[in-house]
Amino acid sequence: MKKVVLITGASSGLGKATANFLAEQGYLVYGTCRNPKKYENPDKYQLIPLNLNEVNTIQNAVDIVMKNEERIDILINNAGTGIIGPVEELEMSAIQSNFETNLFGPLKLIQTILPQMRKQQNGFIINITSIGCTIGLPYRGGYSASKGALSLLTEAIRMEVSSFGINVCTVSPGDFISDIASRRYYAPLKKESPYNEIYKKNLKTINEHVNSGIKPDIIVKKIFQILNSKNPKVHYSVGSPLQKFSVILKGILPSRLFEKLLILFYTN
Ligand SMILES: NC(=O)c1ccc[n+]([C@@H]2O[C@H](COP(=O)([O-])OP(=O)(O)OC[C@H]3O[C@@H](n4cnc5c(N)ncnc54)[C@H](OP(=O)(O)O)[C@@H]3O)[C@@H](O)[C@H]2O)c1
Repeated sequence: MKKVVLITGASSGLGKATANFLAEQGYLVYGTCRNPKKYENPDKYQLIPLNLNEVNTIQNAVDIVMKNEERIDILINNAGTGIIGPVEELEMSAIQSNFETNLFGPLKLIQTILPQMRKQQNGFIINITSIGCTIGLPYRGGYSASKGALSLLTEAIRMEVSSFGINVCTVSPGDFISDIASRRYYAPLKKESPYNEIYKKNLKTINEHVNSGIKPDIIVKKIFQILNSKNPKVHYSVGSPLQKFSVILKGILPSRLFEKLLILFYTN
């Protein structure tokens, strides 16, 4: 019997690449995005509507899969958006919306699917976070916070559901080529903002990193490998050696030195 996968954010970037690959490997894949009509119908999987910022659409998407397949074996909480700007000048409504997409929506989806996975005594949930979830990145404070919260939530849920035969883990990407930079929310800076100059330098580096990022194949294969591992870990990082090393550096360097290096990295 084919395993049934529900993956959010499958109209673009990492989600689309993962949905295609898993379908090629024999999984039965349902991908989601806010408005499937905007996109050409994928050949290998079904694209169904789901808006993480609208709770009723989450239940609808799960109902569609359950009606057709009567089970959901794998949930990949992949959809997410960036938010960028100095924390002082981020509008509360923009941060709240980012948390809806990156944290509360994925949480609601997990809550909606878990009863079925418990009934099956089997399931796998992968939450896509970010290497930026372990480091509070300057000018990406809102993003680091929403992804960091998803990461901690994963640790907790994982222990709560393991006795039901359900695995939960995170995959945190470094910079991968995708549409994330063009889709992310940019805080409109005030003309006289004291952050203007330094923020522009940071933004240039941040966007250069996404544009020169790694192709999604690597993360897609990692996800496939994780899904097939007997005893998966709680956290996986996938990215350039420097990005993965930065997480280790944070743990071993004195915090003020680490901060200096990070600031230099983004402003040079
Ligand atoms: N690419 C990177 O370098 C990178 C690095 C770290 C982490 N990540 C994480 O990896 C995941 C995939 O990102 P990506 O790079 O592939 O980005 P992307 O190309 O911008 O794709 C984002 C996907 O999420 C969907 N989405 C956005 N807002 C949504 C909402 N409110 N409700 C439902 N779906 C929504 C989009 O679908 P529609 O717009 O069609 O609805 C799209 O399919 C995200 O969680 C991102 O934070 C990416």
